[in-house]
Amino acid sequence: MEVVVLPDTARIAALVADAVEDLVRRRPDAVLGVATGSTPLPVYRELVRRRDAGVAPDYDAVRFFTLDEYVGLPAGSEASYRCTIARELTDPLGVDASHVHGPDPSPDGLADAGERYEAAIRDAGGIDLQLLGIGSDGHLAFNEPGSSLASRTRIKTLTEQTRRDNARFFGSAQEVPRHVLTQGLGTILEARHLVLVATGGAKAAALAAAVEGPVGASCPASALQLHPHATVLLDDAAAAGLERAAHYREVWEHKPTWQGL
Ligand code: F6R
Repeated sequence: MEVVVLPDTARIAALVADAVEDLVRRRPDAVLGVATGSTPLPVYRELVRRRDAGVAPDYDAVRFFTLDEYVGLPAGSEASYRCTIARELTDPLGVDASHVHGPDPSPDGLADAGERYEAAIRDAGGIDLQLLGIGSDGHLAFNEPGSSLASRTRIKTLTEQTRRDNARFFGSAQEVPRHVLTQGLGTILEARHLVLVATGGAKAAALAAAVEGPVGASCPASALQLHPHATVLLDDAAAAGLERAAHYREVWEHKPTWQGL
């Protein structure tokens, strides 16, 4: 796992945008896994800024897969992850809606929604680069503590802490749906490159457990330690709990420039 500690969000966003654009230039029909929530927004704004400036690669053939989706929201709700990713990223990038996929939360199809989503990812050839955030309780996508490290896309119940954390996207914690569909940890581990971004002191404890703690279901994000190509980018506040922070900084400072992320 590569851990990169940077002083500000803008540098993190630029580096992640570079990695996404490098991939899309190498592979114009790349498959991108995208996260929602607040953390990836600077990355999305940077990608959109570059497109508006006319310096971005062509996204016409790129396919997008969201990590997760709320269950029980009215169809077309602005808080749904499908609408969020369209609003923040894929519409501004000019991506055709048919290239943007998410788990299907419609009530009639919930029983096999996970299997259908797994099949869609498989049919696309698997995810090349998966963007990730981390919950303050260590969740990865919406795999809450206790989730199997081998889990696949399925319905899950959010913890009270996650519903409180996400209340800012709704009127109150009570309005945050209790159920979600989420890629499993086993699903996420099959993506070819995992890129997790964490910013702010509220993530420091979960991040330290994920990166330096034991691998286990109690901290689902610790599953990253099992992946052969995982990159973790964080600001100083999110890095505050890391014992080896000085070493990560030294590694980054002396990293050969040809290596990339
Ligand atoms: C979102 C997701 C979640 C978030 C996490 C952090 O698709 O899967 O795991 O990444 O809850 O959310 P923010 O970035 O809002 O702190």
